[in-house]
Amino acid sequence: MNSSCLVDNETKSPFLIGVAGGTACGKSTVCKNIIEKLGQTNLDETRRQVVSISQDSFYRELNAVEKIKASKGQFNFDHPDAFDEVFMYQTLTDIQAGKTCSIPVYNYKTNSRSKKDTIVIYPADVVIVEGILAFYFPAIRDLFHMKLFVDTDSDTRLARRVPRDINERGRDLEQVLNQYMNFVKPAFEEFCLPTKKFADIIIPRGAENIVAIDLIVQHIRDLLNSENSTQYELAEGLVPIHTNN
Ligand code: ADP
Ligand code: C5P
Ligand code: MG
Repeated sequence: MNSSCLVDNETKSPFLIGVAGGTACGKSTVCKNIIEKLGQTNLDETRRQVVSISQDSFYRELNAVEKIKASKGQFNFDHPDAFDEVFMYQTLTDIQAGKTCSIPVYNYKTNSRSKKDTIVIYPADVVIVEGILAFYFPAIRDLFHMKLFVDTDSDTRLARRVPRDINERGRDLEQVLNQYMNFVKPAFEEFCLPTKKFADIIIPRGAENIVAIDLIVQHIRDLLNSENSTQYELAEGLVPIHTNN
């Protein structure tokens, strides 16, 4: 599936930040806190300078057999094959080209993309992309100008995932624990944890690490205040290729 995109008149190429880390380490919370601290939360979505998107929007659609497995907690959503890598790459390159993109909203209760809702991502100065395997696919990883890895210990992550999945994702305790033992934990060790080495910054303890979050917020503020904030070459050293003047 392709994201639907429009090119805006005033082309912006955003600074792309990747955020990876194991399930329930606090990726979504860290991104939300960064965006709040930058005063972006209550702005009209067309006017936001900083936006975040989740890799979960790029889970691929399941076939009938996979859907039945998923409903029993027997589908591996932590394996790279669960994602539509091409769709995610295409969307991020469209975002990087300054296009307005429409991406799916993922529904964890139905294990599929919402039929009704999509999120429109308007051109912004900074786009944060978070997900367990944000750094797994090399072509996607290479798009990020800055890479953060949220590093929260496994016990804390499991203790947070269980209530979250029961309260917010429509699961029961047995299903959550079985899925965790059979798929989530082994896939974290095989596919997610090895990508920590690609991070520029490791955030120990996730959202409670106010010092790390404030440093990142300040860095983003500096980028936004910089006259060179709109255009960057791909990764490697934040080299401006265009100025506003
Ligand atoms: P991720 O996106 O990495 O899976 P979330 O941000 O969704 O992680 O956090 C997982 C769960 O833990 C959520 O219910 C969230 O509200 C909670 N949570 C995250 N960070 C903290 C924290 N520092 N203290 C307490 N609960 C937290
Ligand atoms: O927010 P978080 O990083 O935890 O989201 C990724 C997790 O969501 C994965 O560990 C995966 O097991 C879980 N997931 C799920 N059901 C889906 C899709 C993802 O349990 N349908
Ligand atoms: Mg999340």
